[in-house]
Amino acid sequence: MSAFTPKPWPRKLRSGEWFGGTGRDHIYHRSWMKNQGLPADLFDGRPVIGICNTWSELTPCNAHLRDLAERVKHGIYEAGGLPVEFPVFSTGESSLRPTAMMYRNLAAMDVEEALRANPLDGVVLLAGCDKTTPALLMGACSTDLPAIMVSGGPMLNGWFRGERVGSGTALWQMSEDIKAGNISQADFLEAEQSMSRSPGSCNTMGTASTMASMAEALGMALSGNAAIPAVDSRRRVMAHLTGRRIVQMVKDDLKPSDILTRQAFENAIRVNGAIGGSTNAVIHLLAIAGRVGLDLTLDDWDRLGRDIPTIVNLMPSGKYLMEEFFYAGGLPVVIKMLGDAQKLHREAITVSGDSLWDEVKDVRNWNEDVIRPVDKALTASGGIVVLKGNLAPGGAVLKPSAATPALMQHRGRAVVFENIDDYKARIEDENLDVDETCVLVMKNCGPRGYPGMAEVGNMGLPPKVLRKGIKDMVRISDARMSGTAYGTVVLHTTPEAAVGGPLAVVRSGDMIELDVANRRLHLDISEGELQQRLQAWQCPVQAPAGGYARLFHDHVQGADTGADFDFLRGCRGAPIPKDSH
Ligand code: FES
Repeated sequence: MSAFTPKPWPRKLRSGEWFGGTGRDHIYHRSWMKNQGLPADLFDGRPVIGICNTWSELTPCNAHLRDLAERVKHGIYEAGGLPVEFPVFSTGESSLRPTAMMYRNLAAMDVEEALRANPLDGVVLLAGCDKTTPALLMGACSTDLPAIMVSGGPMLNGWFRGERVGSGTALWQMSEDIKAGNISQADFLEAEQSMSRSPGSCNTMGTASTMASMAEALGMALSGNAAIPAVDSRRRVMAHLTGRRIVQMVKDDLKPSDILTRQAFENAIRVNGAIGGSTNAVIHLLAIAGRVGLDLTLDDWDRLGRDIPTIVNLMPSGKYLMEEFFYAGGLPVVIKMLGDAQKLHREAITVSGDSLWDEVKDVRNWNEDVIRPVDKALTASGGIVVLKGNLAPGGAVLKPSAATPALMQHRGRAVVFENIDDYKARIEDENLDVDETCVLVMKNCGPRGYPGMAEVGNMGLPPKVLRKGIKDMVRISDARMSGTAYGTVVLHTTPEAAVGGPLAVVRSGDMIELDVANRRLHLDISEGELQQRLQAWQCPVQAPAGGYARLFHDHVQGADTGADFDFLRGCRGAPIPKDSH
């Protein structure tokens, strides 16, 4: 049963302020739109739906989205709406430097302003690559116009010499295999050809698939959206149905603020634990919650994830890829299993107007090795762990399903790198004083330090350690990690080094204790010594001279609240701007 009460229809819509009259300004707005060949009756008061497209050939994961936009248009026309497609800044993960994360907030600003300034009543958000999903959701939340997401979908499985090749995951594995002398450069180059064999986003449960799953679990996409491969005809059907649905959402006035309640976020956090989702989801959900004025915290992540088993057997935590996840039934099966286990707010509303439970209650699991029964879970407690202690007073995160159980309780000698350049310069030095019991520490890779908080937290291991057959060491930084990566990696340490957090004063030779069971991250020096070092600390990071980089530096907040800009948190709605004509 839906708890949402639709508004009466028909009524005057927002777009009517532009198109719905006989005055000079109405004629002005309509007549220019008609140069695209739009018949007059399309301006009869029907919902005008934006299709917010992150298509770009510089974002290869989203390069097929124009085709999907056409499918969305079919659905919008069919349901009696007027579709208008528009581009926004596309944050492609694979090429943007210094990191796509630096541009997530820029893209979110673009979305928000485009929605508010244009004659739109609702929007379909077309996303795919990692940051495009949160950026579009953040921007849409800050206007609170009816919004629905359709994802581009993952690539087909990669295959190389009979083995699955997971996007990103295989790259990290093979680069370590080269350092260890297990494969040749020629092998690596040959494997490159098999890594990305179709349109779509990363085929692992990396950040793109995680965020598509988060959009579905939050209720912001139609049920089943997350896992359909990009090239499967059912992806086009999903786009078509999404186009149909947004028209009714506008008529009903079903908005993000109706859907994105605390219950919705709690559901998404639990789903993230069950799918072995990316640590990046922590930052993005905190930022999205900030846009709807919800006080979601790192403590919520730790509390809600504690009793959630990771049941989705996908790389990087497990064996399979998104294609198999789809064939097994996809995210609806996971949501049903959490609902059956009473670990879900079943009544949470989705874009369908129905409850999350209504959408999934009849689905079946078609492959119990891909989506495991709870008693065969990959990790019994798979939710993101939030660590605290004198090394991370504001918190740090770790993904248990991608970590080595034997390292979850560890005390080791710190080997410190002052920044990513220092790490790259020394990690392969055979004289580096390091062994597998050490803790690799990297500083100045947080939101302000890098800048943008790069995905470099899964530091590759020193070759001399790899040659012993060791595959994992404890690593700590204020960076993020690709959702496709793995290891006993402590990330998002807050406050970050570049603002004078305790991470900034760790020295090589200090002892560090990681105690995941007790959620503790401790630098084993006296409180007096720690304070002395902090007082003597000087910031090594220069503020950029100007431009967007300066805006980012001056306004980005910590990872513990989502790394949004301070002035962008909250919902500003979509009041009709003044007309200047
Ligand atoms: Fe775009 Fe992974 S690089 S989804």
